[in-house]
Amino acid sequence: MSENNVPAETRGESMEKYISLIKEINENKTRTAGTRPAAFIRTFGCQQNEADSEKLAGMAAAMGYDLTDKPDGASLIVVNTCAIREHAEKKALSVIGQLKHVKTRDPSAIVAVCGCMVSQEYRKNTLKHSYPYVDIVFGTSSIHHLPKLVFERLSGSGRLFCPEDEETSIAENVPVKRDSPYRAWVSVMYGCNNFCSYCIVPYVRGRERSRKPEDIIKEVKELALSGCRDITLLGQNVNSYGKDFGTGYDFADLIKDISTIDGDFRLRFMTSHPKDATEKLIDALAASDKAARHFHLPLQSGSDRILKAMNRHYDREKYLATVEYMRSKIPDITLTTDIIVGFPGETDEDFEETLNLLRTVRFDMIFSFIYSPRRGTPAATMEGQIPEEIKSKRFARLLEVQNAISAEINEKVKDTVVRVLSDGESKTDAAMMSGRTDGNKIVFFEGKPGENSTGKFLNIKIDRTEAFALYGHKI
Ligand code: 5AD
Ligand code: SF4
Repeated sequence: MSENNVPAETRGESMEKYISLIKEINENKTRTAGTRPAAFIRTFGCQQNEADSEKLAGMAAAMGYDLTDKPDGASLIVVNTCAIREHAEKKALSVIGQLKHVKTRDPSAIVAVCGCMVSQEYRKNTLKHSYPYVDIVFGTSSIHHLPKLVFERLSGSGRLFCPEDEETSIAENVPVKRDSPYRAWVSVMYGCNNFCSYCIVPYVRGRERSRKPEDIIKEVKELALSGCRDITLLGQNVNSYGKDFGTGYDFADLIKDISTIDGDFRLRFMTSHPKDATEKLIDALAASDKAARHFHLPLQSGSDRILKAMNRHYDREKYLATVEYMRSKIPDITLTTDIIVGFPGETDEDFEETLNLLRTVRFDMIFSFIYSPRRGTPAATMEGQIPEEIKSKRFARLLEVQNAISAEINEKVKDTVVRVLSDGESKTDAAMMSGRTDGNKIVFFEGKPGENSTGKFLNIKIDRTEAFALYGHKI
């Protein structure tokens, strides 16, 4: 078993101590001002960052802050950043830029920036020199240090720039404030060892570390008991879970163990790497009555030459064999993937091979990205960088091909009944309700005014379909 899962407090940095110290300060302020101080948290990026923000929110609430949805008037502002593509960083920097006015209006407000972008040393320096109103900067390995950092700043320290935590420990028992009572993220491992040549994640989230199975199982049991209906196990490379234990206990074993937990919930996981999508794992999913019939298996490219340059450790043949095995064991499985277009050196022929593989596999849905060079990754300095206009053309063509496939696949669902976890009133059309199928497809359906179906499983008969959505009515 790993030695890594050392609770934060046993490392001489008692999170609870700082939480209670700040709580006391905030309670005193509340008594004098008559109102409780507020915390604003803005999140960019993937589900892992959303899960981290739920911990930031949990710690903020424990410290006596009320959560607010606007930065104006907040005493604590936290921006949790992403670094996966340049666009994500630009958006975060723009939001951080706007905070200057908030800080001018209230110099006592604390502005903190955390997450993947600032786990890069040069970005930390950007904030140090060009954003002087930012008080605290801390990377992904230091999330649980928030109370200590806030306390130090409140106690009159200078600006705080946390060095990356060299210790690869996992802080357990961090308070969590979940966004939803019926959908939950459960981190099972952190970091990534794969070093795909385009990807910044291994540099900003460190090496793979798995949480102990008993900690994960305890968390899932509590969620199931509280009525949670949709639980997603998270990790940058979730299906290499357990490799750091050296005991043989792996992700398939974890799926088996979680599947025995009582409760009416769907079990999901993301994101998987094709090289670790073993037959043992697929067999465990097929045997589980909790696992959603969905596999998100990032392909990235259909060209063997590009897959090699990406350092992905599989080829078309291996990927297709995995898909074939999945479909033989779970015929109704929904398959989704990630594709990058315009990786350095990608020729028209390479791109055609990607299109060709999409036509062969026929994914239900793809998430497509234009290659974005990331400083410090091998691909950023490779020869043959692709001009933006070619990338954009390939991107549009990719969507065109996939949309036709998604539309055809969804059409087959018409007139059938699907089980949907309702999210209540749709955010895009107030007259409709929306929810998600087992395969995570979005479904819009009519609901009666005042009827509260949020967080419940419903049977929906599908009347109409599109490439990205299904439409139906409750039966
Ligand atoms: N440029 C474009 N897309 C990227 N991804 C990761 N790094 C990059 C990059 N530098 C995509 C991959 C991954 C998804 C989460 O983001 O497809 O699976
Ligand atoms: Fe990035 Fe590859 Fe790790 Fe996924 S597996 S996080 S794409 S390096």
